[in-house]
Amino acid sequence: MKTIDELLAEGVAGKRVFVRADLNVPLDGTTITDDGRIRAVQPTVAKLAEAGARVIVASHLGRPKGAPDPAFSLAPAAARLGELLGTEVAFATDTVGESATATVAALTDGQVAVVENLRFNAGETSKDDAERGAFADQLAALADVYVGDGFGAVHRKHASVFDLPARLPHFAGFLIATEVGVLKKLTSDVKRPYAVVLGGAKVSDKLGVIDHLLEKADRILIGGGMAYTFLKAQGHEVGISLLQEDQVPAVQEYLKRADERGVEFVLPVDVLVSTEFPDLKTKAPANPTVVAHDAIPADQEGLDIGPETRKLYAAKLADAATVFWNGPMGVFEHPDYAEGTRAVAQALVDSSAFSVVGGGDSAAAVRILGFDENAFGHISTGGGASLEYLEGKTLPGLAALEN
Ligand code: 3PG
Repeated sequence: MKTIDELLAEGVAGKRVFVRADLNVPLDGTTITDDGRIRAVQPTVAKLAEAGARVIVASHLGRPKGAPDPAFSLAPAAARLGELLGTEVAFATDTVGESATATVAALTDGQVAVVENLRFNAGETSKDDAERGAFADQLAALADVYVGDGFGAVHRKHASVFDLPARLPHFAGFLIATEVGVLKKLTSDVKRPYAVVLGGAKVSDKLGVIDHLLEKADRILIGGGMAYTFLKAQGHEVGISLLQEDQVPAVQEYLKRADERGVEFVLPVDVLVSTEFPDLKTKAPANPTVVAHDAIPADQEGLDIGPETRKLYAAKLADAATVFWNGPMGVFEHPDYAEGTRAVAQALVDSSAFSVVGGGDSAAAVRILGFDENAFGHISTGGGASLEYLEGKTLPGLAALEN
């Protein structure tokens, strides 16, 4: 994989450089609630601009349906990028249309433009190679060089991620180079004990990675909504908690395999429950109660791991040499259910392990809960991307940069 250092050594002054970033940041209206992904790509954009490139930054945001939708405009992200760069950033109100063409044509050396959401164009995410290819042709017409730096999207076979690099000289940006370097440390010569903490809503999203980690990890700690499918698989009732009943047999199989391989699965011993999902807007007190993992009332749902589980998980992480964490332990967006996620983050801060926080939600949680990012080994910008990397899958966006 050629990196941006080689591109910079070749010289980029006057060249139109297309940077495929992942500016898919959480928004509350037009307010960015976590700008981590924008900050993560800023060094690549800054370096290219400094070297005299005419930088065109492109990204998706959310999942619009292949047509313009103001709720998913990249305008707030473009403004934030401008603030971080300390320069004015031009914004094109379309991706490959008149506005984009004119905006790119008006760039002078060292200037930066952001084009509107790639997913406002059906060709970006199309399953049809020809449709994707046609959109990639339009994108290619905007630029001379491609820099892939949207790590969070490298697992997507999308036009700007997969088809476009084949049409232009292509290089990996600083962020992708860093992310891949870190994830490599989790796949070969990993320092042990290797503990993995998995949370988030759905077990089905994590089956692939669990399958793979059963061969690699020493300990797997489970929290978040997916924990209830594990508790059910162990024969416990989970009330009205999030449950993927159809995944119970797969989970039972994993628990059995873990047992055979000597991999320790650690499940909650207590949980915070309530009859209602909390109001995340008003953050009105939710007054949850603590119950044992095998005593969840029929009319209640589990919304965070309990205090005993927090202690248990902290202890299981204390002596780890390597930790990968993906997915919050509870509904951390509400203060009454944030303590489980906070406890895992704190345990990583306190441990001397090489810790990698992967995933949009857990990465955002760490920052929203006020932790210093530098206290962790690495905070990945990729949720699905880092999981698929750890599953050993070929990621289209990385494969395209390697070719
Ligand atoms: C993410 O948020 O994980 C990336 O930006 C990819 O977004 P997607 O899941 O909508 O493709």
